[in-house]
Amino acid sequence: MRNKLVVGNWKMHGSRPANAELLAGILAARPYAAEVAVCVPFPYLGETAAALAASDIRWGAQDCSAHEQGAYTGEVSAAMLAEWGCRYAIVGHSERRAYHAEGDALVADKARAALANGLTPIVCVGETLAERDAGRTEEVVARQLAAAIDKLGERVAEIVVAYEPVWAIGTGRTATPAQAQQVHRLLRAQLRAASGLGDRVRILYGGSVKPDNAAELFGQPDIDGGLIGGASLKAADFVAICRAAG
Ligand code: 13P
Repeated sequence: MRNKLVVGNWKMHGSRPANAELLAGILAARPYAAEVAVCVPFPYLGETAAALAASDIRWGAQDCSAHEQGAYTGEVSAAMLAEWGCRYAIVGHSERRAYHAEGDALVADKARAALANGLTPIVCVGETLAERDAGRTEEVVARQLAAAIDKLGERVAEIVVAYEPVWAIGTGRTATPAQAQQVHRLLRAQLRAASGLGDRVRILYGGSVKPDNAAELFGQPDIDGGLIGGASLKAADFVAICRAAG
């Protein structure tokens, strides 16, 4: 059985006082049946680690470098994230693919760097609206996941996958549970074909998950939790979504 996982992706939001309040709200509502984590902006990792260290809530980053170290101004290595106790690093989020021109090969290299340093990469895949309308959803997500499979080999069983249709991110337009499940089922089949342990991989859904739609999404057979953007910034909403996964 795959244990459900709910991850808050704060994106470029927060402030030290707001974060303290948000984390306190998440902590106060424990225990959760699902595994719960927050992926925070780099400067807040230290304080997040301090706030969560004595709990079972995990934390992580929203990106990591594909490189081990060196002259890569502005980048943060997976080893540095490990020093701050990160469990997760999101890689290949559609916002990084779109605004920083990250391609499938680079995303796979980042996933490999994360694994090499003891982190679990959350590898994001998802089609744009134009790709969906052109009937290319399956081809696009299969290509994105294949890049990680090719690079990681058997270790692909150690990643988390997040299916985030680009048209559903921050738009209030959620994929229906049936639409999401259809893609998750395909991703699951691809993981099974790649690894004898492919069944273990958790596949999260992301894109306008809210307290009122979370339970139905998480109830689908191949949806193992969520990657939550906007609704992860309000403790009451995030807690409700975490509970919906339990
Ligand atoms: P929203 O939940 O704000 O749509 O964002 C989803 C997302 O991109 C999480 O990584």
